[in-house]
Amino acid sequence: MTAPLRSAPAANEPELVKVDLGARSYDIVIGRGVAGSLGERIAALRPGAKTFIVTDENVAREILPAITQSLGRAGVKTDSIVVPPGESSKSFPVFEMVCEAVVGARIERGDLVVALGGGVIGDLAGFAAAVVRRGLDYVQVPTSLLAQVDSSVGGKTAIDSAHGKNLIGAFHQPILVVADTALLDTLPIREFRAGYAEMAKYGLLGDAAFFDWLEANWKEVFSGGPARDHAIAVSCRAKAAIVARDERETGDRQLLNLGHTFGHALEAACGYSDRLLHGEAIAIGMALAFEFSAGRQGLCPKAEAARVVRHLAAAGLPTRIQDISPPLPSIDELMELIAQDKKIKRGRLTFILVRGIGDAFIETGVDAAEVRAFLSEKLAER
Ligand SMILES: NC(=O)c1ccc[n+]([C@@H]2O[C@H](COP(=O)([O-])OP(=O)(O)OC[C@H]3O[C@@H](n4cnc5c(N)ncnc54)[C@H](O)[C@@H]3O)[C@@H](O)[C@H]2O)c1
Ligand SMILES: [Zn+2]
Repeated sequence: MTAPLRSAPAANEPELVKVDLGARSYDIVIGRGVAGSLGERIAALRPGAKTFIVTDENVAREILPAITQSLGRAGVKTDSIVVPPGESSKSFPVFEMVCEAVVGARIERGDLVVALGGGVIGDLAGFAAAVVRRGLDYVQVPTSLLAQVDSSVGGKTAIDSAHGKNLIGAFHQPILVVADTALLDTLPIREFRAGYAEMAKYGLLGDAAFFDWLEANWKEVFSGGPARDHAIAVSCRAKAAIVARDERETGDRQLLNLGHTFGHALEAACGYSDRLLHGEAIAIGMALAFEFSAGRQGLCPKAEAARVVRHLAAAGLPTRIQDISPPLPSIDELMELIAQDKKIKRGRLTFILVRGIGDAFIETGVDAAEVRAFLSEKLAER
C-alpha cells in the first residue's frame, strides 16, 4: 500500500524547527502530509537540482512512489537506489554500491541526495553524500520515529566497522529535514515503540514538563494526530538546541547519550539483532541510568527512578536486563563491552547520570567497580 500524500500541507500548518549552525543552518519541517510538498520545497531551495533517492525495500514499497510523484509534480528529476532493510546495509559493500549509483546517475555538486527511510538509510545516504565528489548536499526524509526525533537531525552519518558500530563516518549536516508524521502509520509498532524511547529521553535528560506531558499523552502520540506531531516537534527542538550548542559532541551533546552506555553494551551483547532494537536497549539503559543514579550514587530520588521505569514499561518498552530473551550476557561480558564503549577517558568511565527527571549531567569519573557491583545486582534479580 502506498501512503497517501497531499500536495498541500495538512489542515494544521507544519511546525518549523530551525537548526542554528551559522552557514550550515537548516529547517526541520514537521507535520502530517508534509512529504507531499517535498518536490516544491526542493525546487525552491535548489532550483534546477537533480535528486538521487536512497531508500530501503520496506520504505520503497510503502512510500517511494508517492515521493517520486511529489518530486515529479515539481519538475524535479530523480533517480533512486533501493537497498536491503536493516543494520547490515550500513556496510562497506552497500556503501560502495550507493556511492557508485550516485556517481553513475551523474549527480553533481549542486544536485541533492535524498535519504528516504529510517536511521540506517539516513546514516548510509548521509555518509555517501559526505564523500561522493568530496561532498554533496542532502535532504533527510525520515520515515521511522527514531529517525524523525533523532538520527535525521544533527549531521552524524556513518557505516559500521568490523570493530563496532558507526566507526566509519563523518559530520555532514543535511540542508533540509522533512518529517512527515503520517509516514509513521505504516511503521511496525515495535519500531514505533523503540523510537518512543528516544523521544522520552528528551524529557528525561532536560525537560521534566515534557516527560509529565508524555506520561499523560503517550497513547495519543502512538495513535497519531496532533499529539504525535507536537511530541516530534518538541523532540526535534530539544535535539536542535543541543546540536547548535555543541555540533561535534565535545560537551553538552554527550547528554544525548543518556542510557546509551548501558544500552550499547546490551545491544552489542545481543549482536545488534532483532532480539533487541536500539531503542529497546536505550529504554533499559535509561532505566538503569536512573536506578544507578538513585541507588549506589545517591544522586536522584528513588521514586523518580521508579516513575521512569513505570512509564517506559507502560508504553510497552523493556526496562530490565531480564526483559531480553535469553541467553543474557554475563557480568564480565557486559563490563568488557562497556570498557570498549567510546565514552572512556584515561581509564575513568564517563556516564550520563541524573539528579532527577529532566536533570541529566555528564560525570567523567565513574568508578568501574561501582558499575560492576550495580550490574551484578541487576543481573541477579529475578
Ligand atoms: N545519526 C544519528 O545521529 C543516529 C542517531 C540514532 C540512531 N542512529 C542510527 O539509526 C539506525 C536505526 O534507525 P531506525 O531505528 O530508524 O532503523 P531502520 O532504518 O532499520 O528502520 C527500522 C525498520 O523500519 C522500516 N521502516 C522505516 N520506515 C518505515 C515506514 N514508514 N513504514 C514501514 N517500515 C518502515 C525499515 O525498513 C526497517 O526495517 C541505527 O543504525 C543507528 O546507529 C543514528
Ligand atoms: Zn540512541
